Amino acid sequence: MKLIIANWKAYVTSAKEARTLADAVKKVKIKKDLKVVLCPPFVFLGAMGKKSAALSLGAQDMFWKEGGPYTGEVTAEMLFGVGVAYVLIGHSERRHHLGETDEMVNAKAKAALAGRLKPVVCVGEKTRDDEKSIPRAVAEQTRKAFEGIQKNRVEDVIVAYEPVWAIGTGIADTPNDALSAAIYIRKVIAEMYDQKTAMKVKVLYGGSVDVRNAAAFVNQNGIDGVLVGRASTDKREFAGILEGI
Ligand code: 13P
Repeated sequence: MKLIIANWKAYVTSAKEARTLADAVKKVKIKKDLKVVLCPPFVFLGAMGKKSAALSLGAQDMFWKEGGPYTGEVTAEMLFGVGVAYVLIGHSERRHHLGETDEMVNAKAKAALAGRLKPVVCVGEKTRDDEKSIPRAVAEQTRKAFEGIQKNRVEDVIVAYEPVWAIGTGIADTPNDALSAAIYIRKVIAEMYDQKTAMKVKVLYGGSVDVRNAAAFVNQNGIDGVLVGRASTDKREFAGILEGI
């Protein structure tokens, strides 16, 4: 099964807009072996209407602790309670603007698993100056994200390879280089656990995915889907992505 995850970020700013986008997705006949996950801002999670086998709900972030004196935070239990199944963890925008560290990402990934959510851990290099820049940044982020996660839970973790230079720039990676990164990510996981376990981890690509390039990433063997930002907030373009795969 391939995953198409829509990260609406803070592009969607009203419940009406969220509802309109969700309704447009529901009108598309989603192909067999595809699952679509919509990640609206927290406040619109309740406005998304019915889910289905092919359409799940995701959140864009969560806190690493259970409930308590943590003003402003949203826990795994709260998300699970409103029907969330997936949660983005460690998006580069959070790492950059909010100072999220690899340690926080690791704590959140563990809390998501404990809370019955599937964490989608985002990793990616800031710049690609030489052929070693993918391995260095991605290995470090991947290793730290998985630290202390039990082997039997590894398959519930999804990794999104999102090179920072490709996010919101209109310059997507190539399916070939994204595949190299995915192979590399699985190699890092195999070193921590074993090959069989690593092969069970879904690795997605994200960064300037649009209606013209989505199919090439999704149909690439070894890439298990895409994480779409801006293009997922345009109802015609996102429907086009789903129909074109
Ligand atoms: P864009 O698709 O807007 O480049 O964003 C990618 C992203 O950050 C998805 O999480």
